[in-house]
Amino acid sequence: MKFTTIDLTPRIGSEIRTDRETMLDGSAAAEFRRLLEQRGVIVFREANLDDRQQVAFARTLGEVTQLGENSIFKVTLDKSVNRSAEYLKGTFFWHIDGTTDDVPNLASILSARKLSAAGGQTEFANTYAAYDDLPEPEKQYLAGLKVVHSLETSQRMINPAPTYAELKAWQRIAEKTHPLVWRHRSGRKSLVLGMTASHVEGMNLPEGRALLCRLTEWATQPQYVYRHEWRLGDLVVWDNTGTMHRVVPYPADSGRMMHRTTLVGEEALA
Ligand code: OGA
Ligand code: MN
Repeated sequence: MKFTTIDLTPRIGSEIRTDRETMLDGSAAAEFRRLLEQRGVIVFREANLDDRQQVAFARTLGEVTQLGENSIFKVTLDKSVNRSAEYLKGTFFWHIDGTTDDVPNLASILSARKLSAAGGQTEFANTYAAYDDLPEPEKQYLAGLKVVHSLETSQRMINPAPTYAELKAWQRIAEKTHPLVWRHRSGRKSLVLGMTASHVEGMNLPEGRALLCRLTEWATQPQYVYRHEWRLGDLVVWDNTGTMHRVVPYPADSGRMMHRTTLVGEEALA
């Protein structure tokens, strides 16, 4: 047996117990990919991989993006380390990464290098399970609806009164219209929500926003959510196409440091 698994909750999250060799040699990569898709999140407790090993592990799972230095993007609110630190406060709200791209990232691999004394837990919500549990008439109602996503919508959450220059900078990233229900190649369906969701196309604003609010409340009920309490060296992978995530707020000067490696998307949101 190369590895064993433990379900962390009934509907989302599995811990994988294995050794470093199995993580790096790719011999279980196909099974890890299957678990990732089925369980939304896979957790390797105290894997303690260094950056090179993390990227090597990521490569066993898929194609790695160039994001960050040598494919290691430093997730921190410390502006002296990451120039995008201000934007990262947006991670405090439920989101899917890359919703302004045609093909959102497949998955992200996050490892804990320094913890915050307060907050900093990461939560994941299973958007496949949330869709599956909707009543049939609701599924029919949602089919065909489209939602406009923008960076501006998400940034307004952390900076509600931007300067004109700030607003124009956000708007440089074009907004994107996506189906509310993602029909995956596998045949499974998931909800596409999160703080980048501005409004429902063709629906009056209050009605569309109320719908998005209600669905978000539905999709983030406790039975769909796994909260990861980080230990140093933990490595967590989430399926960015079938989950949303957010981090419990933590102080900007907490020192919290996570290293992220991102996998290239393999499926257009359609
Ligand atoms: C991210 C993200 C959450 C965290 O890197 O995309 O949302 O816990 N991170 O830092
Ligand atoms: Mn994120």
